[in-house]
Amino acid sequence: MDKPLTLIVACAANRVIGRAGRLPFDIPEDKKWFHDRTAGQTVVLGRICYETWPQVLADGRQPVVITSNRALASDRVRVAADVPAALVLAQTLPGEIMVCGGQRIYEETLPLADRLLLTLVHADVPGDTWFPEWRHLPWRETWRKESRDANYRYTFSVLER
Ligand SMILES: NC(=O)c1ccc[n+]([C@@H]2O[C@H](COP(=O)([O-])OP(=O)(O)OC[C@H]3O[C@@H](n4cnc5c(N)ncnc54)[C@H](OP(=O)(O)O)[C@@H]3O)[C@@H](O)[C@H]2O)c1
Repeated sequence: MDKPLTLIVACAANRVIGRAGRLPFDIPEDKKWFHDRTAGQTVVLGRICYETWPQVLADGRQPVVITSNRALASDRVRVAADVPAALVLAQTLPGEIMVCGGQRIYEETLPLADRLLLTLVHADVPGDTWFPEWRHLPWRETWRKESRDANYRYTFSVLER
């Protein structure tokens, strides 16, 4: 049987997830959550996300990078040309399969997702990259934690289908 597919994202109320190749907010508690939840797992991600995540190879993560640049492949980094090929490859690797963005990859995998680890930042922020609308899908929330820092109020949720 196939392993379940999990998407993990930090998303503003207006669905912005990125700005100029970076996160549009700096929320240390969310960064720790993201690192802790992806540690030891197979992470499926786009080329920009891969290049801008310095610790991607730390903590036992197994990256599957979606890119046309096969030269990024190494003994620790798998490369796939598109989302379907990445998911087939990810099924053969250890741990959970966690999709870590960016925009097109979230758009293509949201319809297939079994689970969404969502950090919803309760603010509209400017940006150039978006998470697809997820609120109309029939999720069951199995866990939630409200939190805040000096700049933002945010909610961690585990949503299952
Ligand atoms: N808030 C969050 O949780 C979160 C999570 C992830 C990302 N982000 C933000 O999102 C931004 C990066 O995302 P992005 O969407 O701009 O870039 P991305 O998906 O990380 O990378 C784009 C590149 O990946 C490849 N690619 C992506 N989708 C593909 C597809 N469906 N089929 C084939 N190739 C594909 C292409 O690589 P080649 O050009 O090499 O062929 C494309 O140029 C950053 O600002 C980042 O901080 C935020």
